[in-house]
This record gives sequence, structure tokens and C-alpha cells, in this order.
Amino acid sequence: MSTLDAAKGNADILGRDDANDLDAILAITNHDVDEIIHAVKDNADAIFTWDYEKGARPALSKLYEKAKSSQWNGETDLPWDTVVDLDKVVANAPRDPAEDPVLLAAQEPGQPLHNWGEKEWAELMIEMQNWTLSQFMHGEQGALLCTAKIVETVPWIDAKYYASTQVMDEARHVEVFAKYLDTKLTGHYPVNAHLKMLLDDIINDSRWDMTYLGMQIMVEGLALAAFGFMHMLTEEPLLKQLLRYVMSDEARHVAFGVLSLKEHYEHLTDAEMLERQEFAFEAAVRMRDRFLQQEVWERMGVDVRTMVKLQLEHEGDKNEDPFQQLLFSKIVPNCKKLGLLDRNGGWLRKKFSEINVIQFEDWADTGEEYESLDEVAKDRQAAETA
Ligand SMILES: [Fe+2]
Ligand SMILES: [Fe+2]
Repeated sequence: MSTLDAAKGNADILGRDDANDLDAILAITNHDVDEIIHAVKDNADAIFTWDYEKGARPALSKLYEKAKSSQWNGETDLPWDTVVDLDKVVANAPRDPAEDPVLLAAQEPGQPLHNWGEKEWAELMIEMQNWTLSQFMHGEQGALLCTAKIVETVPWIDAKYYASTQVMDEARHVEVFAKYLDTKLTGHYPVNAHLKMLLDDIINDSRWDMTYLGMQIMVEGLALAAFGFMHMLTEEPLLKQLLRYVMSDEARHVAFGVLSLKEHYEHLTDAEMLERQEFAFEAAVRMRDRFLQQEVWERMGVDVRTMVKLQLEHEGDKNEDPFQQLLFSKIVPNCKKLGLLDRNGGWLRKKFSEINVIQFEDWADTGEEYESLDEVAKDRQAAETA
């Protein structure tokens, strides 16, 4: 029996045969939106290492040194006195009702957004901003917990050192997104059910390298692309600066994942690699589902089912939405670099083709990109020479 004969089908990986099964997607909802504390079993041993040789893994050691000098302070390094003009936020929203294929289809006669006026569109853009930044904040907390777990579970001292700096980075990210939501926007959203399911799965897995794959490669790879997209579009100066600083950190985090897993994966069997490929596919679909933003449609009082269906039609099979596609522009090349696309007869390549994201495979991976994204170092250099 070959390894591939043991490959799981969609039903086992996703809980549904068809990745685009509308009812199954809608059945995943947040049952307790008022929950304050959420406990997840992390199923892992905390690992001591008595091998303290610093620099045994030079790339990780270099990343650690870089991280120590690139720390910033969310309270004092960002211009919190900026007055945020919500009209401008609406004007620079990432989705344009006159161009976005999903929003255009939803304005057809008989569709949920037919006859929407300026007031409704403005409200939608603000709710999308509230929702997007809320999900960023929740994802950042996921990163905080995952990276604290990596400090405990990774067996290498250089990785424990580096991960400890990432814990501090993630605390800062949760802090600044929460402060932005509280002081500049108009409301929080609870964690999206698909995102929550993914974060729970990552924390739940007992194998230390799965935390890296789920968080550093998949969730943070997507975050880096999403932050970049929002940073490019927004003209709100505080958010622009905030995203610039967060992205400098995120690029290091994704590099940490790529550099650590590259070494670990070299020693894995086909069967072990297949489990990683399946997990990467599961994570990709959960993240695709989270962007269906069910909660926003609900809050806007429009038919959630029809809106999700329209999004799946336009983003699922054909994937004609450039924003939705770009979200995978970091994940796919990083998976390729790690051998995840091609092992086991290209199992993951086929799966990524099915959800229409394979076109990014030859884009730059994030193993070294963090140097060029270090905005904190650039700002300090500029201040010194001024
Ligand atoms: Fe982060
Ligand atoms: Fe991060």
C-alpha cells in the first residue's frame, strides 16, 4: 500500500465532502458569542533541553538578534492622537461596490443588496472594518498562545529564544489592534467560528511542529498578505503606521516558521509529510471560510445564506476576487519551499488547485524577506541620520 492510499478525503479533513458545501459551512457558527473564557487542551509535554549551545542553528540565532533590536512600544511609537475620519475609512475601503464581483452580483434585482443607498454602503464598509480588525485581534491572540506553546515544546534552544521574542511581539499586536478598535472604530465582533475552529485545532495538536505549520506558515502567512493589502489601501495614517510596524514583526514570524520547519521536514517520512499536507489544506479552507464574513451580513440584517452563496460562487470555483486570491500569495510559496506542495505525488498541489490558489507557487517565499520589511530599523536609521 502506498502512502497516498492512506490520504484522507475531504469528509475526514473538513467534515464535509465538498469544500464549498453551503449548508456545512453555514452550520459552523459561534454558539456562545458572550463567552469570556475559552479553554482548549494543548496536549503537549513541556520540553527542557540541556543543550544550551547558542547559534547551533545560525539562521534562527540571527533572527533572534534581529528581533531583540526591532522591538517597538505600541503605546509610545504610534500616533494615537490621530483623529480617525470614518468617512475616509469608507472612501478607502478595500471592497468597492461598483467593482467587486460579489457586491455587484448582490445588487442585481431580487438579490439582498438590491436598491442599497449611500447610507447602507457606508454602514457596510464601517462594519467590514470593525469585523476585519476584530478578527485580526483574535488571530493575534491565537498567535500569542501558539508561540507561548512553541517556547515550551520546541526542542532547540535557538528556537526557544526566538519564540520568546515573538511572544512579546504578539502581546503588542493584540494590544494595538484592541486599542485601535476601542478608541477609533465603532464596535467589536466576536471571533469568527471558522477562525476559532482553526485556532483550537492548532493549539490542540500534540506535535510541536504542527503549531508552527498552523500558525507561522498558514495563519501568519495569510495575515502578512492581508495586512499588506490593507496597508496599501488605507490612507488613515495611524492604521497605516500600525500595520507597517506589525508587518515588520510578522515577516520575521513567518521566516521563523519556514526556517524551523525546513530542517525538521527533511527528516520526516512520506506518511508524516502527508499528515502535514492534510493539515495545511484544512487550514487553507478554514481561512477561506472565515473571509465569507457571515457575522457582517448578519449584523447588516441581510440574508446570510444568499450572501455566502454568492461569495462561494465568485470566490470558490472561479476565484475571480483579487483580494481573496492575494491572501494566499505568501502561504503557497512557503508551502512549496517546505516541500509540502510536491511530496506524495503533489497531493497538496492538487488540493490548492481545487481551491484556485496554486498560481502563487513561484512568488517569493518569506525565508529572507523579513530584512526588507524591517520598518522599525529603517525608521531608527532615518532618525539617526536626520
Ligand atoms: Fe502578530
Ligand atoms: Fe505574528
